[in-house]
Formats: sequence, structure tokens, C-alpha cells
Amino acid sequence: MRITPPPRTFRVKSFGCQMNVYDGERMGELLSAQGIAPAPEGEDADLVVLNTCHIREKASEKVYSDIGRIVKSGEQAGRKPLIAVAGCVAQAEGEEIMARAPAVSMVVGPQAYHHLPEMLAKAARGERTTDTDMPAIAKFDSLPARRRIGPSAFLTVQEGCDKFCTYCVVPYTRGAEISRPFNDLTAEAERLVEAGAREITLLGQNVNAWSGTDDKGRAIGLDGLIRALAELPGLARIRYTTSHPSDVTDGLIAAHGEVEKLMPFLHLPVQSGSDRVLKAMNRSHTAGEYLRLLDRFRAARPDIAISGDFIVGFPGETDAEFEDTLRLVDAVGYAQCFSFKYSPRPGTPAATMEGQVAPEIMDERLQRLQAALNRDQAAFNAASVGRRCAVLVERKGKKAGQWLGKSPWLQSVWFEGDHAIGDLVEVDLVEAGPNSLAARVVERVAA
Ligand code: 5AD
Ligand code: SF4
Repeated sequence: MRITPPPRTFRVKSFGCQMNVYDGERMGELLSAQGIAPAPEGEDADLVVLNTCHIREKASEKVYSDIGRIVKSGEQAGRKPLIAVAGCVAQAEGEEIMARAPAVSMVVGPQAYHHLPEMLAKAARGERTTDTDMPAIAKFDSLPARRRIGPSAFLTVQEGCDKFCTYCVVPYTRGAEISRPFNDLTAEAERLVEAGAREITLLGQNVNAWSGTDDKGRAIGLDGLIRALAELPGLARIRYTTSHPSDVTDGLIAAHGEVEKLMPFLHLPVQSGSDRVLKAMNRSHTAGEYLRLLDRFRAARPDIAISGDFIVGFPGETDAEFEDTLRLVDAVGYAQCFSFKYSPRPGTPAATMEGQVAPEIMDERLQRLQAALNRDQAAFNAASVGRRCAVLVERKGKKAGQWLGKSPWLQSVWFEGDHAIGDLVEVDLVEAGPNSLAARVVERVAA
């Protein structure tokens, strides 16, 4: 056991999904409220929070090697930084981390990080603590108000997952589906806008499973929340991610045609184009049902950009079933997409299924799938040339006078001129690359 002076600086390193980025920001705000300052760029911090991801392989190995690196860097500088392991690896393997890594003082799960101040106080007395409790959403009430924020902010509205796809750890690490209350969300959104946000992305593992009661006592779903947030003056854009096909409602589809602030972008993972594989994944939809859903979104909002997630090499996936995935990709024409090799996760049903696919076959399938997805992304970008749209300025480019922002379809857009971060600028998209577009400014849109 060691006694450590209270930390003066911290660094939060977040891995994985946008929810972790959001949690990481909130942990940072919590630590700042304790009088601990973010460590300056390039300097070691007194307290390092590793905000981990468990979704795919090598997550825990990575945590141990990161811990080793922090300890070594501290030794070289003659100090012992405090180390906290947060996020989904903490939730899944907290006890083991404590046993294997004596340098770790705190293990804190995604539903417990509002307890960090008490854990820090114990750490200062040399006590090591693990907190992986999952109280129902209590943490949000105990976090400090949001203060300084970039033009594009995340807002967690829903956490957890009840779907139990057979490959996925999320239902175990993030727990059951829980929706944050409507009033808390509108209040947090207002604070985000006051703090500089022009765009809010509503986050949830199954964001479209969000449900609540609005200020008039009516039961509403995600579309109702989006419509309420669209009333906020100063908020220009609303996005949401990640959705599940089974929780798509008529109202959500209609909102895409009716709510101007709702951006024409949909991240709707399908995972596979084979009905047999989808069934083995416990996805509760077929490839055909997925395609018909997309048709309905497109009917409501013809220019909607579609994004998704795929897994190749799920146990038992045959060449013909993989070809079904390629066919589905051709049918959709994704604007962008994420694709992964199947990774067996301990404790999930798929990890012990027959017919685990050989790594070289997975490599080959991933390459073929990504070639198809890259082709479609390039085609989507090329087809955007000639469009006029608003771009939200997010940061300066590398060259003087150059700016980077996002189109309504979530494409990165470069342009020149006299702008400021947070401006909405009307542009003509003039040139497409595989990952970004160049634009010419038409005018700055009034705030
Ligand atoms: N192996 C590979 N990819 C996975 N995902 C989730 N679990 C696994 C796994 N065990 C992918 C899915 C999901 C995304 C967030 O991560 O595509 O939509
Ligand atoms: Fe995991 Fe499936 Fe839930 Fe998504 S819907 S978090 S893939 S279990």
C-alpha cells in the first residue's frame, strides 16, 4: 500500500465508441470540479484514467500494456502516477485488473464513475477501490454541469442493451436498456447550447429504444425527443447514433422528413446480409426487412446518407453467406460504414459456437468487404459534388485560412475563408476525395 499526494493534473484516455468519448469528457469535468487540472499536452499527468473498450479483441492486453507504459514513464520521472481503469474492460474484468496490476488504484465501471471523487480520497490514503455497481442512471444526477464545449457535442440519452446479439459484450458491460428522463435531457441540451454547441448528437447503445414522458405528460419516443430539442433556439443540428432496426418507429422515419434540424444521416447497423447468420446472431431482423426499412427512410428523406456496421467471419459463416453480405452492400450503397472481423468475446454465446472461421479467411473477407465499402463511399462523395449545403465549422485546417467542418451527410469538408469555429457556412461542394470534400464558400449562415 502506498500513500500518494493528491493529484494536481489528470489525463483521460478514451478508447472505443462515442459513448466512451462522452463518458471521458464527463469524467474530465468531474475531475476539474475537484480542482484537478487537465495535464498540459506532452506532459505526464498525476492521475491517468484509462477509459477502456471491450467490444473486440486484445482490449485487456492493451490495458495492461498501457498501465506498464504509464508506470515506466513515471519511474523515469521519479514519480508514481495514480492510475484508474474505467470503461467496459473495468466493468468486465475489474477484479482481475486489481489482482494483476498493483499500480492501479481505482477500477470504475461505466455506471459508477460519478464516485471517482470518493475513490480518489481513498486512493490518497493508499486504499485501492473497485466500483462496478450498476445503479439505474444515478450518475447523471451527480455530475457537474457542462461548461465549455465545442460546436459539436455528445449527449447520452440512453444506455445499455437488451438485445443480446450473440457476439456482443455490451449487454453485460453496459447493462440493461435505460432511458434518461426527458427533463434532464432538455436541461442538459440547453446547457450544451449555452456552452457553445451548435450540433448535438444523441447517444445510446440503442438510441432509438429511448422512451420517456414529455413536459405535457405524453409518452414519447426518440422522435418526440428530437422534435422537442429542435425547438431549442441556437441549436442548428441534431444527430443520433446507434440505432437498432427492431426499434425503428414510423415516427422516427417521419421525423427525417419533417424536422429540418435533424440531419439526413442514419447509422443503422445490419452486421450481415445472410438471414441464417442474422438469426444465429440473434439480430431479430432479416436482410430484406432491413432493406425495406431503408426504403422507408429514403422515401421520407430522399438524400439520407446511410451508414452501418458489419461483422465478417461470424462462426459458421460460409463463402455463400459472405457473398450475401456483399450483395446487401451493393443494394444499399452506403455513404460510409464500419466493418470488423468477428472477435470471440468471453461469456457470449457465439464464442463457443461451432465453426469458428480461420483468421486468413476473415482477413480475406474483410478486405473484400472494405474494398466494396470504400468504393461506395467514394461514389457517394463523388455524387455530392455540385451540391450546395451548410457546413458546421469544427476546426482550423493545416494551412492558414483553411477550415474543416461537416456536411449534413457527415462528410468532412475543407474550405477557405474568414470563419470561426461554430459558424455555419453555406458552401458548394466542388471536389471529392475518398475521405473528404473540398468546397467553395457561398456565404455564412446567420447564427
Ligand atoms: N466482434 C466483432 N465486432 C463486434 N461488434 C460488436 N461485437 C463484436 C465482436 N464480438 C461490432 C458490431 C457493432 C459494433 C459496435 O461493433 O458491428 O455494431
Ligand atoms: Fe451489442 Fe447487439 Fe446490443 Fe448492439 S444491439 S449493443 S450489437 S447486443
